[in-house]
Amino acid sequence: MDCYKASNNRYGKTEYKRCGISGLRLPLLSLGLWHNFGGVDAFENGRSILRYAFDNGITHFDLANNYGPPPGSAEENFGKILKSDFKAYRDEMIISTKAGYIMWNGPYGNWGSKKHLVASLDQSLKRMGLDYVDIFYHHRPDPDTPIEETMAALDRIVRQGKALYVGISNYNAEETIEAVKVLKQMGTPCLINQIKYSMFERWVEDALLDAVEDAGIGLIAFSPLAQGLLTDKYLNGIPENSRAAKSLGFLKEEQVINASAKIRELNEIAVARGQSLAQMAIAWLLKDKRITSVLVGASSVQQLEDNLAATDYLTFSTEELNEIDEILNR
Ligand SMILES: NC(=O)c1ccc[n+]([C@@H]2O[C@H](COP(=O)([O-])OP(=O)(O)OC[C@H]3O[C@@H](n4cnc5c(N)ncnc54)[C@H](OP(=O)(O)O)[C@@H]3O)[C@@H](O)[C@H]2O)c1
Repeated sequence: MDCYKASNNRYGKTEYKRCGISGLRLPLLSLGLWHNFGGVDAFENGRSILRYAFDNGITHFDLANNYGPPPGSAEENFGKILKSDFKAYRDEMIISTKAGYIMWNGPYGNWGSKKHLVASLDQSLKRMGLDYVDIFYHHRPDPDTPIEETMAALDRIVRQGKALYVGISNYNAEETIEAVKVLKQMGTPCLINQIKYSMFERWVEDALLDAVEDAGIGLIAFSPLAQGLLTDKYLNGIPENSRAAKSLGFLKEEQVINASAKIRELNEIAVARGQSLAQMAIAWLLKDKRITSVLVGASSVQQLEDNLAATDYLTFSTEELNEIDEILNR
């Protein structure tokens, strides 16, 4: 691929929202590298998606130690692209990674011990060729490690300069309140919680949305399209090359079949709004001021283009919201 120079117009295109009460602002849409950037994927496709994202105002790129497959390969590929294309733009990027799911064998390759988190971040930095990440997350709560130890690891990582900010992921309201309190006592504020939230997954509405607001932290919603279910892709079955068609993926054929009636009805509302279903699903999340950013995935530039246009129309009438609730609650 040719030499990359970022678009001069990249900052006129989206809003950057303050993350809780911190000084950091994140774009309304962020890009996740869970799928499509691994060793099994087409490298140049991933590179084009990253270029398109940055050219269109996406400054936040989300990774984890285990993204691939194979685990670690998304960070390796991202590192290569950072070096070839984005070296001059490092200070314009918010790069995050995580640890807490199985990454290597033995007692230190998983969960929330200080040993795991510190070692894993060192490995991630090496794979990406970075001195520091902007946000380092504990990927999921660990029922067997004291929260004080996990949070002390995050605090240490910030003090070492290996991460500028720290966050938690998949922590419920109660766990969030506790983590925020412990980190605060240590003098390192918690920046953000990263949580699965979409029209099809709404548990965060019970208590977590209020908890993050009270705690003054941000909330970034992952799998906002329910891994592609909330798009027009599965309206007529399961296309080849879709996530649901892949044996390695986390989206199962059964989930598509179970959701198909709702997808069709939601799509009708989206069409009436003059939006794609993906755009409506993203706008539906962004209508809540407590959502800092929506963390999308994309397997092509066209998908990302579709998703970014969601921000052109973010408001809903009460009738639309009621109609959507009625479909979702069926
Ligand atoms: N913290 C955690 O525990 C955790 C867990 C999961 C994810 N995440 C983060 O969240 C990010 C996003 O997750 P996700 O990939 O599940 O998000 P998603 O946005 O719900 O799904 C992305 C997938 O949907 C399809 N898609 C996207 N836009 C489309 C469009 N406009 N039209 C048709 N299909 C479209 C593509 O699948 P096809 O391949 O079928 O084209 C794409 O790969 C991840 O990359 C990761 O950074 C975090």
